[in-house]
Amino acid sequence: MQLTYYGHACFSVVVGGKTLLFDPFIRPNELAQHIDIASIKADYVLLSHGHGDHVADALEIARNNNAKIIANYEIASWYAEKHQYPNYHPMNHGGSWRFEFGAVKYTYATHSSVLPDGTYGGNPGGFLITSDEGNFYYSGDTALTMDMKLIPMFASLRFAVLPIGDNFTMGVDDALIAANFIDCSTIVGVHYDTFGFIKIDTLAAQQKFAQQQKQLLLPAIGETIQL
Ligand code: NI
Ligand code: MN
Repeated sequence: MQLTYYGHACFSVVVGGKTLLFDPFIRPNELAQHIDIASIKADYVLLSHGHGDHVADALEIARNNNAKIIANYEIASWYAEKHQYPNYHPMNHGGSWRFEFGAVKYTYATHSSVLPDGTYGGNPGGFLITSDEGNFYYSGDTALTMDMKLIPMFASLRFAVLPIGDNFTMGVDDALIAANFIDCSTIVGVHYDTFGFIKIDTLAAQQKFAQQQKQLLLPAIGETIQL
């Protein structure tokens, strides 16, 4: 599978010939000014929760591509009702749905969620994607949580995308425990270095993972990697 990183917690993965874009926050990100959102292709836009650093560019990119927005019920309904965006799929925790590229399960996250205009954003979540090409998990913004131990019961993962920036989410040490909970040795780190509160020592982080025979991948913003 091919993953492209767009900064902060935004990335896309090509699965089954479809491009899944997660948590687009690009134009407000000072580190991602070289990314032109008009050039971003997406068949689906998946939103883990309603915070601005995850949804800022969702509507524009979805409209540019007539992409389907996949999010919890409250967020999907907000796009449908407030923005009259017709192409959406609402989910809630523990539920799965089979799309043309594979299946999506909306998983538990320990965080908060409110939409940019103050609308209640429901409970935050993550996504487990299963497909013929392999499976991956994006936890969304979350603390380390015991619920992650459920993930290996649902699917064996080729890779996972986890926040590592601390303060608002797990930091590196907890993400390493999470990697053990989900039984995955290839982790793509996100949600770090964007703001002052989440700046980390990336080299030290990668060394901590390597000491446990795990890989912490930190692609450059705009870089595409094969997984
Ligand atoms: Ni958040
Ligand atoms: Mn966030």
